[in-house]
Amino acid sequence: MSAIIKTVDLRKAYRVGTEKVVALHCVNLEIEKGQVCCILGTSGSGKSTLLNQLAGLEKPTRGEVWIKGKKISAMTEKQLAHFRQKNVGFVFQSYNLLQGMSALENVALPLTFRGINKRKRLRLAKEMLVAVGLGKRLRHKPSEMSGGQQQRVGIARAFVAKPDVVFADEPTGNLDTKTTREVMHLFLSFARKQQITIVLVTHDQNLARYADRIVTIVDGEVIKDVMNDSLYDITLKLSEEFNQKLGEDPPVEDLRDFLLEYSDRYGDGVAAQVLEMAATEGNREKMLALTRRMLASEQDLHRGTMMKKIGVEAGLLEKEEPVPAEKEPEEEAALQGVLPQEQGETPSQQAEEYIPGSNGSPSPSGKDQ
Ligand SMILES: Nc1ncnc2c1ncn2[C@@H]1O[C@H](COP(=O)(O)OP(=O)(O)O)[C@@H](O)[C@H]1O
Ligand SMILES: [Mg+2]
Repeated sequence: MSAIIKTVDLRKAYRVGTEKVVALHCVNLEIEKGQVCCILGTSGSGKSTLLNQLAGLEKPTRGEVWIKGKKISAMTEKQLAHFRQKNVGFVFQSYNLLQGMSALENVALPLTFRGINKRKRLRLAKEMLVAVGLGKRLRHKPSEMSGGQQQRVGIARAFVAKPDVVFADEPTGNLDTKTTREVMHLFLSFARKQQITIVLVTHDQNLARYADRIVTIVDGEVIKDVMNDSLYDITLKLSEEFNQKLGEDPPVEDLRDFLLEYSDRYGDGVAAQVLEMAATEGNREKMLALTRRMLASEQDLHRGTMMKKIGVEAGLLEKEEPVPAEKEPEEEAALQGVLPQEQGETPSQQAEEYIPGSNGSPSPSGKDQ
């Protein structure tokens, strides 16, 4: 069998009182080793039920589940628990970290089932936490970390024992867009580096874009199954291209246009990620200045606003940074008294309205209050 995960006529029904709820109908699925597979569906479509059967957390009503050539649907609870400990990692929406334990202890936990001594467990856990950018949070308890940090601990824990498969149920459900992007990049980088298969369940179309394959499920049935160019791979390729351009020291307008094109084609998150990845520790100052110049060089309001958004998301521009094109040409002309003025308004009154932030200073009408 070449597929690492395989289901045969998988079915799951729940009994609720006297009612029977069929959560999965007849699912036949084969997932290749190293594939990042997204199960996409709306709430109640049966995603979690499918994941739970695939991961051996629940017993199917009928049909078979195979992982690595083992028929896990036929295993006893004890065999299953052992199999999961040895082969599988989990990431949950609500992180599921042990509250009394530090980040380091949480991540080291799966290694205790592998017969690895404590010293080595802690060393491996530390390496993982460094890899997910939490090298300075080793001793923190979950309650002392943000949601994004807790989920990074969750990811470190899922991958620390180098499992064959990682199952993730709405792993970014509680996170903002930027953190979501970071978390997805972590998932994909581990999957690619270690050839780990990932089954990711979500209702979010944007998450699905990171997968190699998107399986859509409606009412417990697979209705669509397509391959996808992972946004992660696309981002890495663009990042390589951008860094190469950067090395050639082109006019700042060219760099800006590259980023705006990436944003047009793949979304501002991708452009922001490319920019962020270009700002390595050594050249951060240079990138800060360059990004400000990229923004200053854009005269079109829409493009300027987009450039600002990219820069802010990449952490290289302040939210307060002015967009140079914020004043439209007509407004600019009016400010300079070129266009006919509207009745009863003096140029300075118009200027009051146009200049962003000018309402902070006392205005004629402000005196009435
Ligand atoms: N333990 C359970 N008992 C009864 N019904 C359940 C149980 N788990 C899920 N269901 C039902 O199965 C269907 C699919 O649920 P679920 O797999 O949780 O959907 P999703 O994860 O896509 O939101 C829903 O109708 C849900 O009410
Ligand atoms: Mg669910």
